Amino acid sequence: MDFDIKDINLAKSGHNRIAWANQTMPVLNIIKERFEKEKPLKGIRLGACLHVTTETASLMLTLKAGGAEPFLCASNPLSTQDDVAAALVDSGIPTFSIKGEDNDVYYKHISQVLDARPAMTMDDGADLVSILHKDRRELLPGIKGGTEETTTGVIRLKAMANDNVLEYPIVAVNDAMTKHFFDNRYGTGQSTLDGIIRATNRLIAGSTFVIAGYGWCGRGLAMRASGMGANVIITEIDPLKALEAVMDGYRVMPMEDAAKIGNFFCTLTGDINVIRKEHFQLMQDGAIVSNSGHFNVEIDTKGLENIAVSQREMRPFVVEHVLKNGHRINLLAEGRLVNLASAEGHPSSVMDMSFANQALCAEYILKEVNRLKKDVYGVPQEIDMEIARLKLDSMGIKVDVLTDEQKHYLSSWEMGTT
Ligand code: NAI
Repeated sequence: MDFDIKDINLAKSGHNRIAWANQTMPVLNIIKERFEKEKPLKGIRLGACLHVTTETASLMLTLKAGGAEPFLCASNPLSTQDDVAAALVDSGIPTFSIKGEDNDVYYKHISQVLDARPAMTMDDGADLVSILHKDRRELLPGIKGGTEETTTGVIRLKAMANDNVLEYPIVAVNDAMTKHFFDNRYGTGQSTLDGIIRATNRLIAGSTFVIAGYGWCGRGLAMRASGMGANVIITEIDPLKALEAVMDGYRVMPMEDAAKIGNFFCTLTGDINVIRKEHFQLMQDGAIVSNSGHFNVEIDTKGLENIAVSQREMRPFVVEHVLKNGHRINLLAEGRLVNLASAEGHPSSVMDMSFANQALCAEYILKEVNRLKKDVYGVPQEIDMEIARLKLDSMGIKVDVLTDEQKHYLSSWEMGTT
């Protein structure tokens, strides 16, 4: 079996941590049990480009239980958990990822997954799909469909579909309510703070915490940072989101103003160069800057390097940049996803729902392969609702059921107030 990981001897720790994560992934476990019996993915080679974490391992094992042959590489050079990669190889899943790999190795690993000639792709950020369409077009006819995990990937894929260049159907897992309501909000909220705290061990209470982007992820982080006693400032480009942030009780201002007063900065926009040279030059001494949005594009790290007179690594994942004015600007995790680089990504309980969507959507694509066109599809509502129901069940929480009278009332225009 071909693979490229840091050290196979780390497998034991990986297996234990995967088992730990699995304890709070009840929905995925139910799906795995059914997959074991029904083998809905039998014989399907699946190329996955996802963060190599304990939760992803549970997903890979579920897909394998369903009869698929998964091949995995990382969707970010800093997000791999090397012990998990080792455990996956030990479980017979070809894995190509090493934490801290450089860009060349990152793309080599994607290419190695594609060498397996997958019939299905599972992406987080659309790098796999994009390489397939640019450099490996000979493989396109063999692909039945794919899934996409995150906001930015879905935006890219919809742009491809609009330009009529997308060559196979994709289900946008991110668009499931059981995904972005929870993973993006509560998952990113908690794990981003976890990453910033593990990297810096600085106190959040009483700090001024600037969050760029008040989408699902930004809202989650704002809620958690505020809960720990930070004064949260939001920067936005969308007037509606900005208004929502104001009504939620946060200060809203342009980055140019926020740069002068923030202690912590975190970007969660999916956009490029949200924090740039001109902002770094306004920041206070000791500012801590991180990204938890897309890849490493949201902070102009090159711009920061160019204006720095010196750089040194203060702790793992913290590089101090001293500017001409003497101010020290600390960049976390090279501007890559801080929650996955210096922490472990989202807690398993929330990934349970995201990855239940992935598993069920893989099954859905195969069932509907003759009907699906070369387009981006939402997750079918039945799958979304089923996952919500199973998650509630697993938590022992019951909800009310509509009476016949209520059903009638809610679906009729004739029944009035009497
Ligand atoms: P979203 O679309 O709900 O929110 C993004 C927000 O950023 C929007 O409100 C938009 O108006 C705002 N924005 C865009 N450009 C901006 C700029 N220059 N300045 C200020 N605000 C700006 O997206 P969501 O779901 O919150 O995702 C955000 C990013 O996080 C995406 O790249 C997504 O792929 C990524 N993501 C990261 C995760 C992680 O584990 N770190 C998990 C889930 C998503």
